Amino acid sequence: MKLLLINIKELLQVREDGTQKVSGAAMDQLPSLKNAYLFIKGGTIADYGSMEKLPPFEGFKTIDCSGKIVLPTWCDSHTHLIYAGNREHEFVDRIKGLTYQEIAEKGGGILNSAEKLQKTSEEDLLKQASIRLEEVMKLGTGAIEIKSGYGLTTQAELKMLRVAKTLAKKYPITIAPTFLGAHAVPKEFKGNTDAYVEHICTQMLPRVAKAKLAKYIDVFCEEGYFSVAQTDKLLTAAKSFGLVPKIHVNQFNSIGGIKTAVAHNALTVDHLEVLSDADMEILKQGDTMPVALPGCSFFLGIPYTPGRALIDAGLPLALATDYNPGSAPSGNMNFVVAAACIKMKLTPAEAINAATINGAYAMGVSQTHGSITKGKSASLIITQKIPSYHYLPYSFGSNLIDTVLINGKKV
Ligand code: NIG
Ligand code: FE
Repeated sequence: MKLLLINIKELLQVREDGTQKVSGAAMDQLPSLKNAYLFIKGGTIADYGSMEKLPPFEGFKTIDCSGKIVLPTWCDSHTHLIYAGNREHEFVDRIKGLTYQEIAEKGGGILNSAEKLQKTSEEDLLKQASIRLEEVMKLGTGAIEIKSGYGLTTQAELKMLRVAKTLAKKYPITIAPTFLGAHAVPKEFKGNTDAYVEHICTQMLPRVAKAKLAKYIDVFCEEGYFSVAQTDKLLTAAKSFGLVPKIHVNQFNSIGGIKTAVAHNALTVDHLEVLSDADMEILKQGDTMPVALPGCSFFLGIPYTPGRALIDAGLPLALATDYNPGSAPSGNMNFVVAAACIKMKLTPAEAINAATINGAYAMGVSQTHGSITKGKSASLIITQKIPSYHYLPYSFGSNLIDTVLINGKKV
């Protein structure tokens, strides 16, 4: 289908210089074109420019975007969108005073979700995940990373990753799959994390890699979950299978995982709610992108990732939802962008960069997503009539999206 958007009040995140990520002060720059048009052909951005220079056209269906802003769809680089059932009872337990860690120690948390998922058929799991994916597409997400990690057995981990693959076939949204076998220590290995790590390396990883079901490896590097040495072992093993690390680290404690992640050339380190000066120095020397998950901080009432300090230190930052049943049961990137502005003191331009171009980088889809660039996927958010893009995080509870296009098609 050939589409033409006309009278776009402002076309945001316009880049033709091959920028893959933005860091430090550059994060506050959001290149744009006012009063613009944009041509879509074959699902990609064919051309765009200023309305005064709109070339003659024929055979295009036009959409009038008067008063509306157009930007690339959100790139959500960290989710656990495939899960079975929910954990609203633990939510109530937390309201009554238990902590996330206390609930996990009682057998709740990730192990609770794993038990449910193991009993759920692949078909049912697909149905549940499809509902969530359809919802986030309507909320403007055009590319998403999805982790396994609620299986914790070879069969159940493979089941989750097959569901991710089926979702990628069923929907136009781009999906980056991540293997997170090291999300928690399953009951069968209680008290023997080393044996579970060995099991992942020798049994799970080869199967996942052979079936080509994951692009990334993730580990929950945290006290009570996987140590730095165990993380190192897992990342080393994953490397031999060509999986790139994107790891959960510094959510509750700074135990040295960032150093290991950077040494392994991890694409991203995610969470970072607790960040030491030494961690910050390591990040500055490395090439790994920090990813903040403000929805998790909001929901658990834990500190927010020091996003302001990371950017002020010259680093890049990506924003993601962490969509999961325990610590962030929401896949709404609009809320994440608003929370980053309100709670982490990012400017709207920084937050939008973190949720588009840097989000694309954080899941390896920069070639096709994250900016308005000729030849990239026509995955676009058309907002309602709004005064400026600052209004998006400002009016944080409202749905300000008029239309979402993914690969040039209306969602
Ligand atoms: O990113 N921290 C580890 N994993 C998820 C939470 C998983 C769960 O509670 O089910 C997170 O917050
Ligand atoms: Fe997570």
